[in-house]
Amino acid sequence: MRYSPAIVLGAAGLAVAQNKAFQSYPDCKNGLLSTNKVCDTTLSAPERAAALVAALTNQEKLDNIISKSKGASRIGLPAYNWWGEALHGVAYAPGTQFHKGPGEFNSSTSFPMPVLMAAAFDDQLIEDIGHVIGIEGRAFGNAGFSAIDYWTPNVNPFKDPRWGRGSETPGEDILRVKRYAESMIRGLEGPLKEHRVVATCKHYAGNDFEDWGGYTRHDFNAKITMQDLAEYYMMPFQQCARDSKVGSIMCAYNAVNGVPSCASDYLLNKILREHWGWTEHNNYITSDCEAVADVSLNHKYAKTNAEGTAMCFDAGMDLSCEYESSSDIPGAWSQGLLTVPTLDRALKRLYEGLVHAGYFDGDKSAYHNISWADVNLPSAQAIALQAAVEGTVLLKNDGTLPLKLTADSKLALIGFWADNGKALSGGYSGTPAFTHTPAYAAAELGLKTTVAGGPVLDNSASRDNWTANALAAAKDADYILYFGGLDTTAAGETKDRYSLEWPAAQLTLVTQLSKLGKPLIVIQMGDQLDDTPLLSLPGVNSILWANWPGQDGGPAIFQLLTGKKSPSGRLPVTQYPANYTALVPMTEMALRPSATSPGRTYRWFPNPIFPFGYGLHYTTFSPSVFESFPKKLNIADLLKGCTNKYRDTCPFPSLPLDVKNTGNVTSNYVALAFLAGEYGPKPYPIKTLASYARVRDVGPGSGKRAQLKWNLGDIARHDEMGNTVLYPGRYTVLIDEPTLTKVEFELVGEETVLDVWPQK
Ligand SMILES: *[C@@H]1O[C@H](CO)[C@@H](O)[C@H](O)[C@H]1NC(C)=O
Ligand SMILES: *[C@@H]1O[C@H](CO)[C@@H](O)[C@H](O)[C@H]1NC(C)=O
Ligand SMILES: *[C@@H]1O[C@H](CO)[C@@H](O)[C@H](O)[C@H]1NC(C)=O
Ligand SMILES: *[C@@H]1O[C@H](CO)[C@@H](O)[C@H](O)[C@H]1NC(C)=O
Repeated sequence: MRYSPAIVLGAAGLAVAQNKAFQSYPDCKNGLLSTNKVCDTTLSAPERAAALVAALTNQEKLDNIISKSKGASRIGLPAYNWWGEALHGVAYAPGTQFHKGPGEFNSSTSFPMPVLMAAAFDDQLIEDIGHVIGIEGRAFGNAGFSAIDYWTPNVNPFKDPRWGRGSETPGEDILRVKRYAESMIRGLEGPLKEHRVVATCKHYAGNDFEDWGGYTRHDFNAKITMQDLAEYYMMPFQQCARDSKVGSIMCAYNAVNGVPSCASDYLLNKILREHWGWTEHNNYITSDCEAVADVSLNHKYAKTNAEGTAMCFDAGMDLSCEYESSSDIPGAWSQGLLTVPTLDRALKRLYEGLVHAGYFDGDKSAYHNISWADVNLPSAQAIALQAAVEGTVLLKNDGTLPLKLTADSKLALIGFWADNGKALSGGYSGTPAFTHTPAYAAAELGLKTTVAGGPVLDNSASRDNWTANALAAAKDADYILYFGGLDTTAAGETKDRYSLEWPAAQLTLVTQLSKLGKPLIVIQMGDQLDDTPLLSLPGVNSILWANWPGQDGGPAIFQLLTGKKSPSGRLPVTQYPANYTALVPMTEMALRPSATSPGRTYRWFPNPIFPFGYGLHYTTFSPSVFESFPKKLNIADLLKGCTNKYRDTCPFPSLPLDVKNTGNVTSNYVALAFLAGEYGPKPYPIKTLASYARVRDVGPGSGKRAQLKWNLGDIARHDEMGNTVLYPGRYTVLIDEPTLTKVEFELVGEETVLDVWPQK
């Protein structure tokens, strides 16, 4: 029997909780290790890591290539559990624990789930969040409550709406995921040469699937074309490894084109370390937890676990993450499959990561002073609130929002999420200092409210009770606020969905509420569902999507409902029709439409309920592109001045945008610039996001200017071999979703390969 990560990390994370500090730094001042060169801060990181590895016996080496590393007490190297988690705040993991009850390190700041953070389309916000998590994460580490390695962010693009872990990601669009990764890593690891914490991009590669149709992530072989691999599944990792030089990468459970990810020389060496030059930084690859055993047990790629274990280390994996012992390191060693040079290579990479994070630097570390006093700061809490406000998306509004409340207005808060603090957090959470629910927020505002629960799924036993209580509350109110949706994370991360429909019991309740003739606002929590039934109910006045908004979700929602703040989030995912589940199996990795698939993501699927990028305001905007944007650009000229090693990172002239607020409410505005046109390989995508920017506080009747930045890589497309190519042709820039204005330009000259994709 294996553990499921959901059991360890979900709501039941406390099952492995320890109440006290359990990790420690080596004593480089007076301890046994102080005489080893690893403690000498005047030496280079490779020299220091090599010195430590040279001091280890073979047995000690074998003890330290698993997540629960034993260290080597003989030489003063402490045990270290590498497995920290911090998806949207420091969270529970075998290597990260919280003090239970009153005391220091009993909580961390809890941000919204990443898909909601991403919906704000604000890179600075993500960096600010990463900065907070990095500070708090280091404080936990300094106090021994955590590793200083955190296996976050999750950058697999959210391609299929059924995926149980989609909300951990920044959505379905590659540009959005890349910029999220860039900002989050910079925030977490910090601006210095020394890493504040070591971040990990996961799950490399093609991992967006848990358990569906008779396959699980442990045995699934993702069949991916070179084109889809290069343009979609690998792009976030290119950002992480090549451009952000992230400290660590996690290889995935699934196989890609027949080879388990953690045993793939193509993925780990040819692309990651060679093509993307990640070796220059000598960082480490961890397996997903128990992925090594999958190589033999589930993928049947190796005859024995010992053989599979050796294959992974040979392919360039450096650490086996496991709950219990699940790889067979002793077997691989005793059978001579795992060699000393391979062990040394893995250990050097691992320890060099820790050297870079100041682990062996004692009080010379730039971050050694970060402490409990730096956790849950008011500034961090303000960012958590801001993220929930700015990510929340207004999907429908007939003018009922913002609410026009008077001192006498009575509100009915109905539904499972109306007063459930735990349900606001989502997956991979820690313990926040507080969770402010909608009911709490309404009470803080002094509003007259009645709160009634509601069904989650179709639970007929309690349905009549829910309904009676909800209707009683609603009948007595002037406004009805329904907090509903599907709490997919409650099912645990190993579950994918089979339906995109609203749970029947919730729809029945909303239908009854809509007949009362009172203003009815649906606040949709959790993942996307097909909202068609709500859109066709005339009694549903407004829909606000708030996902898992984190510790200050309730106040964030009320700031928007009351008009204290204006909604400005945009959907970072497509809202698909419910019948989409019948049109394409989860196991289909192809993005482009075909005889057996209507296509995936907004780039290829033509009939969404709400498109990617959609989001209403309390005002109206009229963006326009300045006359000065060039109508014709020559590809050779674009490349002439650029000496970047990777030519796709060369800049394209930025797009100057004038954003006018033509309504009467001050609001932020997310400017989205999509590209469309017939250039590059067929079929042509409907459109592709090429740049975006958040423009802040545009007053009624006034305007603000923004420069939308993009690189040649954002203009390029990928050919069938996966090469990144700049194509001549006529391009149309579509501003906003739906399009509010367009500008055209032409690229002339020779089609030019910016990046040659290594073939298998
Ligand atoms: C954490 O400890 C403090 C006292 O130090 C206490 O006031 C607070 O309620 C605790 N928080 C949690 C979430 O247990
Ligand atoms: C950090 O710790 C050192 C002692 O190691 C102390 O001298 C210094 O004042 C501290 N700095 C801050 C900002 O707390
Ligand atoms: C799927 O549902 C949408 C409405 O939500 C409808 O327009 C479309 O025709 C349906 N597609 C198929 C193939 O049934
Ligand atoms: C804003 O405009 C809407 C309609 O355009 C109107 O109903 C509302 O009263 C206006 N609000 C203010 C504060 O002027």
